[in-house]
Amino acid sequence: MKGIVLAGGTGSRLYPLTLSLSKQLLPVYDKPMIYYPLTTLMLGGIRDILIITTIHDAPLFRNLLKDGSQWGISISYAEQANPKGIAEAFIIGRSFIGDDSVCLILGDNIFYSEGLTGLMERSSKLLTLQGGAKIFGYYMKNPKQYGVAEIDDNNNILSLEEKPKKPKSNYAVPGLYFYDNQVINIASQIKPSINGEIEITDINKIYLKKKQLSVEILGRGAAWMDAGTHSSLLQAGSFIQTIEERQGLKIGCPEEVAYRKKFITKNQLMDLVKPIKKTAYGRYLLDLINIKSMQS
Ligand code: DAU
Repeated sequence: MKGIVLAGGTGSRLYPLTLSLSKQLLPVYDKPMIYYPLTTLMLGGIRDILIITTIHDAPLFRNLLKDGSQWGISISYAEQANPKGIAEAFIIGRSFIGDDSVCLILGDNIFYSEGLTGLMERSSKLLTLQGGAKIFGYYMKNPKQYGVAEIDDNNNILSLEEKPKKPKSNYAVPGLYFYDNQVINIASQIKPSINGEIEITDINKIYLKKKQLSVEILGRGAAWMDAGTHSSLLQAGSFIQTIEERQGLKIGCPEEVAYRKKFITKNQLMDLVKPIKKTAYGRYLLDLINIKSMQS
């Protein structure tokens, strides 16, 4: 399975923060925002990843993430000239996806929960075996500003709507999606919505019509945040700070995920630590090597 992190867009809701810097490079507490979705893919064992950015920001992302080999993964890059919609990721990523299935994660979506690794691994394996598409549902007091899924007691999806004025349910659809290879053709057939964008929800509706869409509810123990507004960016940062300081364990640390998932060896991690060993981040990584019993 391939992975795509969509990290383009104008970030207009975060102006003026995003006037000169991409939203997905802004700090979420102690790391650039993109580290969080990137490590979510890595937790699922997805090691072949395409990052889609604006043309303007591409060099910054390349500088930060390089080709991924330092973390035992492969990172490729593509550019989106204009924010024509999330579904364009599959058109831009067509040759990268090839004949494979794909997991798309939005570059401003942050997930944190017990069992996230299992959820990602399981979803990726099942999708590869069974085909179709998989989305998630997250209970929210007010899901109006998201994709919303109406779901019955047997976990069947009854309807899907993008940013409905009157949501039919409280289940928002987070920016994490698994698709089989049909998604490339489906995306290329979709017409822009009244917002002028080709919507991810329209892709999901086509899978729903084909009866090939499944949903998994993320329980109340799961945290899902999108850091797309000033307030949600601050909330996400505070959340990460609270958990990290309390546990002494980092969230969204690619070096750590790569080491724990055995994408890199202890010696490779040591090489990454050497130039930064005097920083707090470097010392954290050094502890990972030294304290074998550290909670996984
Ligand atoms: O966060 C989850 C929600 O994301 C879903 O519930 C919605 O169904 C989905 O449409 C999307 O809604 P948003 O209003 O949050 O989408 P937004 O336009 O903010 O884009 C989300 C991210 O994708 C953002 O980081 C920018 C990036 N993006 C977006 C578009 C439209 C691109 O890179 N290119 C694009 O063309």
